Amino acid sequence: MRPETRTVHLPKPSVTGSVPISMPIYQTSGFVFDDPAAFAEEMGRPGGAYVYGRYSNPTVRALEEAVAGLEGGAAAIATGSGMGAINCVLLGLLQPGDHLIAQEALYGGTAAMINDLVSRFGITVSYVPEDDPAALRAAVTPATKLVYLETIANPVGQVADLPAMCSAARDLGLISVVDNTFATPLLCRPLELGADIVLHSVTKYLSGHADVVGGIAVFADEELHGKVWHFAIELGATPDPFAAWLSLRGMQTLALRMERHCANARHLATRLAAHPAVSAVHWAGLENHRSHEVARKVLADFGGVLAFDLAGGRAAADSFMASIRLALLAPSLGGVETLVLHPASTSHRALNAAELARTGVTEGTVRLAVGIEHPDDLWADIEQALS
Ligand SMILES: Cc1ncc(COP(=O)(O)O)c(C=O)c1O
Repeated sequence: MRPETRTVHLPKPSVTGSVPISMPIYQTSGFVFDDPAAFAEEMGRPGGAYVYGRYSNPTVRALEEAVAGLEGGAAAIATGSGMGAINCVLLGLLQPGDHLIAQEALYGGTAAMINDLVSRFGITVSYVPEDDPAALRAAVTPATKLVYLETIANPVGQVADLPAMCSAARDLGLISVVDNTFATPLLCRPLELGADIVLHSVTKYLSGHADVVGGIAVFADEELHGKVWHFAIELGATPDPFAAWLSLRGMQTLALRMERHCANARHLATRLAAHPAVSAVHWAGLENHRSHEVARKVLADFGGVLAFDLAGGRAAADSFMASIRLALLAPSLGGVETLVLHPASTSHRALNAAELARTGVTEGTVRLAVGIEHPDDLWADIEQALS
């Protein structure tokens, strides 16, 4: 053949008999078939042969199998962001007229999405505390379909009583969905505690290096997975293979990172609690946190995000944010660098005073997403900013 054709049809040697150490990036939009019947058959089958990149890709499936394995699920759907996973699950399972029960303290993007479901899709919602199965039972209507929880809520760290809430949901015939982003499968495996679906913003601890945006939904059973998978490929929420590869690469150090995130958070929470400029510290590892008892039951450790209230209110928070040096002023969490933000003016700015109070945020609240630096360097930075 001529060079014009040969440059198009480059050789693609297949690897047989040995396996690469690192999962390769399959940067292709589709896959080639010899047999037209097999091509047709595999097109719409979750977990089937690779056909088209929006349906599946080996690098993406490696991520799905890795997280499904860690969470103890049957199958997973990776998405281009955490919100993509949340949308696939809620839009894929709810219909107009359905009722949803959600916990009161929710990630802002999820709260906004639920508001949209209510105003545009004719779905109704009731909010209950994350640790109150009696309130859950009382909120049920004949139209209730799903219960939505977060293992550890942002920013003040309420911990959902997953065994109690998921078993109440199961008794009532409801699907329970848990956002496990803050805990990761290293600290909590909601499917083992009775949940049906677990969600993650892979952007955070799973990928772990603040260099990728991604999401994933893990399903306890194949049937629910198949249903949401068909919707997910219609929605087009698929991640890019490179993002999946970055996530896989980051996940290899998840256990080491989580150990350090949690240890650093404990160190800082303890020191903050003893500082005169601080009126309250919100980290479930502290005995006076409202979720401490639930957290001891549900979590292997208490996580790497903490919040604290400055006695001087908003003025003190402004001055703290302007004085901090090592911790970076940035959104998100779960990377190796410590990040700091003022929820009332950034992540929670859309909430009114009553909603802020319900979430546990004051004008003097500061959130720390604690990284893996040396704890003494972090404390030195925080201490100079407090003074
Ligand atoms: C608990 C939680 N869930 C979901 C999301 C959404 O994830 P993403 O930003 O990857 O879409 C976030 C983002 O901050 C989050 O904190």
